[in-house]
Amino acid sequence: FATGALAGLQVLVTAGPTREPLDPVRYLSNRSSGKMGYAVARAAREAGARVTLVTGPTALAVPEGVEAVRVETAQEMLEAVMARVGTADVFVAAAAVADYRAASVETHKIKKQAEHLSLALERNPDILATVAALPGGPFTVGFAAETQDLERHARTKLMKKGLDLIAANDVSNGQGFDVDENALTLLWPGGGTTLERQPKERLARQLVTVIAQRMGEANSR
Ligand code: C5P
Repeated sequence: FATGALAGLQVLVTAGPTREPLDPVRYLSNRSSGKMGYAVARAAREAGARVTLVTGPTALAVPEGVEAVRVETAQEMLEAVMARVGTADVFVAAAAVADYRAASVETHKIKKQAEHLSLALERNPDILATVAALPGGPFTVGFAAETQDLERHARTKLMKKGLDLIAANDVSNGQGFDVDENALTLLWPGGGTTLERQPKERLARQLVTVIAQRMGEANSR
């Protein structure tokens, strides 16, 4: 792990879950702890970058030297990212963004009534795909949590979203979400490597090293 690997660069990271309100007291969310994203932010800082962390609600302490922007919904996360991505050299989307939000948020608490209740949901924006599509945008890194055909699905996502790198993890056996250790398969157009199961802090440093290498290759072409 080279401490100056990202010296002079700006890194923007998303982390944690998003919360999508249903009414004044309820929301839809997921089990993301934010650990992977926070570890990436810390590792990028240690590699010499200036780091901004756009984070959904988590119980984690912001890593030293990292600027944190706290958001709740996917829409807020998108706005916080778009306001800062112009100066970013690297964008790492580690957040577990809710794919759907309530079609309308009730102004009053939803009352218990019938035996069954249906919620109307609508799609949230894809923050990663939005950033990846920016002309002259940053080096873009996504995560892919898959339960089957890890590599095939991740490679499809890499190409479809137009990413520079994707970090895929197998979540079929309780791995990946809300735990301290993880294993990652890194894929980029034309190549890839695997990072064995280890603490997320160490994994994040290796990921940062690969990001710096891939950016170096892109620049030397
Ligand atoms: O398509 P899928 O949700 O599996 O893609 C996962 C990747 O996309 C992660 O890097 C996640 O942070 C990002 N993402 C996003 N905005 C969304 C959904 C996913 O940035 N609305």
